[in-house]
Amino acid sequence: MNFLNQVVLVTGGASGMGAACVDGFTQAGAKVILVDRNAALGEVVASRTGAKLELGDITDSSFCDAVLTRSLEQFEKVDVLVNAAGIIVRSTGMETSDIAWQQIMNVNVSGTFFMARAALRIMKSQKSGAIVNFGSIWGDVGAAGVAVYCASKGAIHNLTRALALEHALDGIRINAVCPGEVNTPMLQSERSEAVTEALLERLAQTVPMGRLAAPEEIARVVMFLASTDASYMTGSLVTVDAGFTAR
Ligand SMILES: NC(=O)c1ccc[n+]([C@@H]2O[C@H](COP(=O)([O-])OP(=O)(O)OC[C@H]3O[C@@H](n4cnc5c(N)ncnc54)[C@H](O)[C@@H]3O)[C@@H](O)[C@H]2O)c1
Repeated sequence: MNFLNQVVLVTGGASGMGAACVDGFTQAGAKVILVDRNAALGEVVASRTGAKLELGDITDSSFCDAVLTRSLEQFEKVDVLVNAAGIIVRSTGMETSDIAWQQIMNVNVSGTFFMARAALRIMKSQKSGAIVNFGSIWGDVGAAGVAVYCASKGAIHNLTRALALEHALDGIRINAVCPGEVNTPMLQSERSEAVTEALLERLAQTVPMGRLAAPEEIARVVMFLASTDASYMTGSLVTVDAGFTAR
């Protein structure tokens, strides 16, 4: 895929699937702005790829607005926004604290919305742009033990559809990728048991294809959705789960 001279923002670009997107887009010729709150990891990915690093927290709408303003000033347009930043807390609804509820909803839902809103204001006046949000299989089906995460991903799914309809005539396409089990730091985080090869193998065996995804396998679908090859797609939730939700 060719993104030569396209301006692409990737939130959560310091780790996991966001980092795989930064790799993919920069290799395809894009000017990439990596947005993340993790300075140490962000600097590693930025220096490896040449992406511009914007350090900050997407739960702060003024930070999101400022990132988009700076990107427009420096690069004169914004072609693509990938909203990959997200967090998970593994607890049942009954055991979830107020703070955990607010943290997950703030990052996953408000952060995605604040970045999309800031990008849309620019894309609407350009009359062009593509946004790819990160949903999840857990926004489509439920899972015990991650109730709030499920709620946040369901919100992202329907936010994606609603924004797509609002901008269908503006030259802006808005879609979501909905991954299954992907081997990233998030997959391994917040577990009550130690992350061992045996645990990863057990998780892999819950997947019909019998393995976890590599982050690059999701990044390639994100790039497709952001590209003109997906010119007739908006408001779509694209599941990439090796058959997980086909059952
Ligand atoms: N790993 C999976 O199996 C899986 C499956 C489905 C969906 N997802 C979703 O995919 C996306 C990427 O997940 P991942 O597994 O690559 O996660 P990850 O933990 O490897 O990376 C997430 C990145 O987001 C950043 N981030 C978190 N909160 C932030 C904030 N408030 N402001 C700025 N940056 C912030 C983190 O610093 C980190 O670099 C997430 O939205 C996640 O919910 C993950």
